[in-house]
Amino acid sequence: MADAPTLKLVTPVPGAPVRRARPSRAGARARRVISIGGGKGGIGKSLVAVNLAIELARRGERVMLVDADLGGANLHTCLGIDLPRRTLSDFIERRAKRIEEIVTPTGIPNLGLISGAMDHLDAANPKYAQKMRLMRNIQALDVDHVILDLGAGTHLNVLDFFLVSDHGVLVLVPEPTAVENVYRFVKAAFWRRVRNVVAVYGFEALLRSVMGEGTFKSPVEIVAALSARNPDAGLILSRQLEAFRPRLIVNQARTPQDADIGNAVVAAWRKFFGLEMDYLGHIQYDEDMWRTVRARRPLLVQSPSSPAARSFAQIADRLAALDAAQARSEGAP
Ligand SMILES: Nc1ncnc2c1ncn2[C@@H]1O[C@H](COP(=O)(O)OP(=O)(O)OP(=O)(O)O)[C@@H](O)[C@H]1O
Ligand SMILES: [Mg+2]
Repeated sequence: MADAPTLKLVTPVPGAPVRRARPSRAGARARRVISIGGGKGGIGKSLVAVNLAIELARRGERVMLVDADLGGANLHTCLGIDLPRRTLSDFIERRAKRIEEIVTPTGIPNLGLISGAMDHLDAANPKYAQKMRLMRNIQALDVDHVILDLGAGTHLNVLDFFLVSDHGVLVLVPEPTAVENVYRFVKAAFWRRVRNVVAVYGFEALLRSVMGEGTFKSPVEIVAALSARNPDAGLILSRQLEAFRPRLIVNQARTPQDADIGNAVVAAWRKFFGLEMDYLGHIQYDEDMWRTVRARRPLLVQSPSSPAARSFAQIADRLAALDAAQARSEGAP
């Protein structure tokens, strides 16, 4: 199969400890990988990625922005820099041996860009081995945060980037079609995760037979049925599903009710799927946001005190709080 589920997209349980000290190059690992997705096109994923990256860089974190929208890359434009000379296609096609060779400075202290601009159509759909190498190298970048701007849709490449992230962030605009897309995306990611877990632990046949027994309404019911047959398998799957915890941002909020849509989506996910999601907050609809796109200057550079710009501080704070909570649960001092 072209895209076998052997990809190690399975969260180690309990999770890897949060690194406090900056690792040496030899054992380097990006401390946190944050992916920005959500299924629907044109809703602000790239602008969220760029501005969140700038917010973190200004806090003194070393940040690498990666344009993982293979085939539709445009982060360099959002940042107001020329088309980078070297891009992910150079790395995927091995013209660049090390991923560090394709980093472009952004002019913003602490922030580098790995551009996804493609000069070769094949690179938009890398082969399995190429994708594995890319993911390994992205995870091994010696920075505090990697921010991945994912493309629209639910292509397996998009889902896999989402699943390897420490924070898989869904961007939603307050419109019914976008809400539908977010559920479609999160369900596709969820089933991809389940497929990977059963493949890695070798209980595909067990899951197939359980699924063949009837229609299950929720993951909780699947876990219960699996546990009845094989308690170990049930335990593994339930732990993996607990670790599947997307984050959510509502973008382009115009009213207080729009901001509440985030809470409603989290509540519905919990009710119908029995799983958790963390709402990071909303970003207001802000004329400055699209003006900055035309000016090719990021919002946090051009209009740092605009209402939308201020939201990024809150989102970064919530992500930091989630990291701190995880570190506490893992027993870090
Ligand atoms: N908070 C906001 N306020 C006003 N306009 C916004 C806001 N967020 C995004 N936009 C508008 O949405 C447009 C699309 O944003 P962006 O390119 O980030 O979307 P995207 O989800 O990355 O799209 P694609 O799926 O094509 O990659 C922007 O050019 C801007 O005009
Ligand atoms: Mg985009």
